[in-house]
Parts: sequence; C-alpha cells; structure tokens
Amino acid sequence: MAERFEFSERLNAMPPYLFAEIDRMKAEKIKEGVDVIDFGVGDPDLPTPDHIVNALCESARKEENQKYPSYEGMLSFREAVAEYYMRRKGVKLDPEKEVVSLIGSKEGIAHLPLAFVNRGDYTLVPDPGYPVYHGATLLADGKPYHMILEEERGFTPDFDKIPEDVVRNAKIMFLNYPNNPTSAVCDKEFIKSAIDFCYDNNIILAHDAAYTDIYFEERPLSFLEIDSAFDVVVEFNSLSKTYNMTGWRIGFAVGNETALQGLLKVKTNVDSGVFQAVQEAGIAALLGSDDVIERNNEIYRERRDKLVNGLEKAGLKVFVPKATFYVWCKVPDGYGSMDFAKKLLNDAGILVTPGIGFGEGGEGFVRFALTRNVSVIEKAVERLEGFEF
Ligand SMILES: Cc1ncc(COP(=O)(O)O)c(C=O)c1O
Repeated sequence: MAERFEFSERLNAMPPYLFAEIDRMKAEKIKEGVDVIDFGVGDPDLPTPDHIVNALCESARKEENQKYPSYEGMLSFREAVAEYYMRRKGVKLDPEKEVVSLIGSKEGIAHLPLAFVNRGDYTLVPDPGYPVYHGATLLADGKPYHMILEEERGFTPDFDKIPEDVVRNAKIMFLNYPNNPTSAVCDKEFIKSAIDFCYDNNIILAHDAAYTDIYFEERPLSFLEIDSAFDVVVEFNSLSKTYNMTGWRIGFAVGNETALQGLLKVKTNVDSGVFQAVQEAGIAALLGSDDVIERNNEIYRERRDKLVNGLEKAGLKVFVPKATFYVWCKVPDGYGSMDFAKKLLNDAGILVTPGIGFGEGGEGFVRFALTRNVSVIEKAVERLEGFEF
C-alpha cells in the first residue's frame, strides 16, 4: 500500500546513516558481555566547571530570564564574546553588529545556507568533514561540492582543483581548523589563500572554529586575525568543547556583518534565541579564568600521548594531533575504514568512527575520540598489544 505521506525530495536526498551496522554490532557485543571501549563519541566526558553551573542556577531563578530571549542574544553575552575574542585572539569585535548568539554552533552552521543559497547553488565543503555542511546545503536545495582534504597538503584542500563552473555558482565555503576528523591545524598562509579565493569569487568563508581552544602546541588562529578577513569571513564558535558544555546548546557567530544579518533573519523565523540563564552561564564561562582551558588541554594531552603511543606500538600510522581531541589513524593495508572499524570492535572490543562516515576523503582512516579517561585508554592499549591485522 502506498504511504500516505512522502518525505520531501530534499529529505530523501540526505545521505543514509552509515553507522547503523556499527551501532548494531556494538549493541550485540554489549549483550554478549563484552566491555566495549567507545572512542566514537565526540562529547567530552569532563564536567562543566562549577562556577558556570552555579551561574546557571542563580540566573534561572530570575524572572526576567524566564521570558523569550532576543534572537541576536543579550548585549551582555555579546560583549562577553567580544572580550573573549580580544583576550584570546587579539580580535576586535563590535558586539552590536559583529556577534550573534546561537543555540550551539551547529544551529548557525545549519541555518547559514538557508540565508544565502538558492536552488542549485553550490557550497564548498571539506571532505572528510563534519556532516552538517553537506546536510544543511541539501536542506537549502543547494549542491555540496566536496573539496578533498589531501594528506600530502596537511589535510587542506587545493582550491585550484575546484571546477570553474562550481566556483562561479558557489555561495559559501566551509572550512574547519583545528579540523574534525583529521585533527589537522592550518597555517596563516593557507588562511590568507582561502580569504583571497573567497574574496575574488564573492563567496562567504564560513569558518567552523569549534575546536579552537583545544590544542597542545601553538594556539590555532582565528581566521579573523588575518587582515581583511571581515570582508568575507563568518566564524562559528562554541562553548561546547572549550568549557565542556555540549548539552547546554550555546555558541555564537562572529565576523562579516552581511553574513550575520542573513543568519539572523533565518533565525527570527525558526527559533527564539538562547535561554537567558544559559547566556548568563556562558558569560561566566567566557569571562572566567583561562585555567579551565589549560586544565582541559593537559588532560587531553596525557590521553593523546598514551593512545598515540599504544597505536604506534601496535604498528598503526597515526597523525599526532596538535589540536582537537581526535586521533586520526591510517587503516592497515588491505582494509577499508569500515572493515577495520568492525575488526577493532569484533577482535578488541574497541569502537572507533570509520573515516568514510565523514565523506569519501575519509576512506582509509579511522577516528579515535579522546573522550575517555587514562585508565580506559590504558585498557584499550593493552588490548591492542596482541592485536593482529
Ligand atoms: C566540527 C564541528 N563543528 C561544530 C560542532 C557543533 O558543536 P555545537 O553545536 O555543540 O556548538 C561539532 C560537534 O561535534 C563539530 O565537531
């Protein structure tokens, strides 16, 4: 019998959920009594610091915070974002015009194409990449063009390889450094070349900076630190990873005014802003001590070193992350990323994310998330000692 309701063409065009089989295998293993070590989740296991939680509790009691918030965010929140950008990156922002609050950076990233992409227009998306760039483009009836992040180029794309007709019809380029899933960082020259390319071709450069505060060497640059960036760059940022606040749903977009105005116009039609008590907790985070960030990074550094060591001892090729809480690892010869992920789960009870889940450019790799504590990582390393592949 025909279904009464049919999904829209744009929903049908969304890629299938690739991890269904891995999820099923994980559930099976757990049922069999296997102690599955899950390195699949990009969600910090560390708690939100107390001073932030306390700020929320206090703010939630204030009656004025129980009403609809404004779409762009409280001025005091936007001022705190500006102070954070100046303190950590030396970037000056006008809190009235160059900052918009978001219900997590995912919300802003997903809404941007609706503001600038017409049917059939292109967006340029990194591959491998965070799947939302691709999905949000399809929801806006646009066409995602996948720019392969090339290993030989330190996991950056080569803009010269984008066909001319795609460039002519491209409205947004998404980039993400420090990068999920490869953990790559990029240098100033690359950012400059991306800004110039987007400027010359009237393309908004949407930089996803979700992992900007998780690093082990040099501080990764904000794209807005580069001269003339404000002509083309909108930067998406988040409190999720910096302050262990993934569940709170608070982020922000900063930079180019026209991009922000478009985003805000979409938001006024689809959401009602961020709960003000969460914004006040966000202010406590952004204006609080940077010790929180440093402590997190020390924890991730120790985990990184343990896991990287173990993987290398097991004979795997690892890209030692300079930033992010991900470890990008090459699969051994003869395996696809899905096969290798299944083997790790079956033979060692270790769950990782197959690179193919982030696009074809991720084939040949798997991703480990450093969101498990050191003793769990040690257990995983022990299991890998006898691992045959
Ligand atoms: C690359 C990247 N961008 C954005 C996000 C979304 O973060 P949030 O919506 O919590 O700010 C994530 C979350 O995993 C991510 O990995």
